[in-house]
Amino acid sequence: MSSESSGLGPVIDMHTHFFPENWPDLAEKFGTPDWPWMKHHGDGKATVMVGEKEFRPIYDACWDVSRRIEEMDQHGVDKQVICSTPVLFAYRRPADQSAECAYIFNNAALEMCGGSGGRLLPLAQVPLQDIDLACKVVSRAMEDGHLGVQIGNHVNDIDMDDEGLITFLQHCAEVGAAVLVHPWDMMGGNRMKKYMLPWLVAMAAETQLSILSLILSGAFERIPKSLRICFAHGGGSFAFLLGRVDNAWRERDIVRVDCLNPPSSYVDRFYVDSAVFNHDALELLTKVMGEDRIMFGTDYPFPLGEIQMGELIRTAPTLNDSAKAKMLGGNAPAWLGLEAA
Ligand code: CO
Repeated sequence: MSSESSGLGPVIDMHTHFFPENWPDLAEKFGTPDWPWMKHHGDGKATVMVGEKEFRPIYDACWDVSRRIEEMDQHGVDKQVICSTPVLFAYRRPADQSAECAYIFNNAALEMCGGSGGRLLPLAQVPLQDIDLACKVVSRAMEDGHLGVQIGNHVNDIDMDDEGLITFLQHCAEVGAAVLVHPWDMMGGNRMKKYMLPWLVAMAAETQLSILSLILSGAFERIPKSLRICFAHGGGSFAFLLGRVDNAWRERDIVRVDCLNPPSSYVDRFYVDSAVFNHDALELLTKVMGEDRIMFGTDYPFPLGEIQMGELIRTAPTLNDSAKAKMLGGNAPAWLGLEAA
């Protein structure tokens, strides 16, 4: 199916990931164990390893541009925004090693996008544990052709209301970098050992925590409105629990002490993607965020992504064609800075 045949305009998937086919042996390079590496199985399949542990099964769409474009064409996707994954960020390592990883994977993203005929658009990564360095790396990435940056939603116990992270977001606004906040390093790990529970429970809470950190701390009052920031996975638990948060803000002074306005009044300051996998959830998300603040995102090509890419929005029973067109590809250019917002 081509995107034209849907009659809903261009389709831009703004949440997809890549892994390069190979990269330098980081354990050898830095002289420490437990770095990510690729174990290829020879049939287009591979396992991302962290040291000796299996992290995730993947396939060649992660690194092979033509394979990727073939699947995009099958699903009527015109463009994808690609970024690496948090397992490659190295936020817990020395900052210079994390910067070296950013250099390796940011260049790999540029190379993939360069060979895609404009179908793939790159986001960079940065050493977020060192704010000065992170600002330098994002500036450099923007000069090199990246459209923005993907960051993990926290660095150890440092959340998005941290002064350093606010400085980083102010810097992203200054240099015009779109920001994608991706949950990682999920809370409650000791209680979620099986069934991918960290991905099913804690990931959604991580994202809600990040959004509330920015709202309740008053950070949004200090960050310029020109910042273009998006939270993955529909903003996690945020939309469903916003009524609870507003109620707490009204009833308890300790909730509103740093937050001037009702939490729900800040939904025009950020975007979320559409990766919620359920029409009722998408309908609620649309009511909470508005049709201008939701962008088509799949988490392609990972196993927990939207397999029938774009179908959730295309077949949404309560969205009209105008809203579908905005979400499928109309809103993303403004977030990416590809046209005036
Ligand atoms: Co993702």
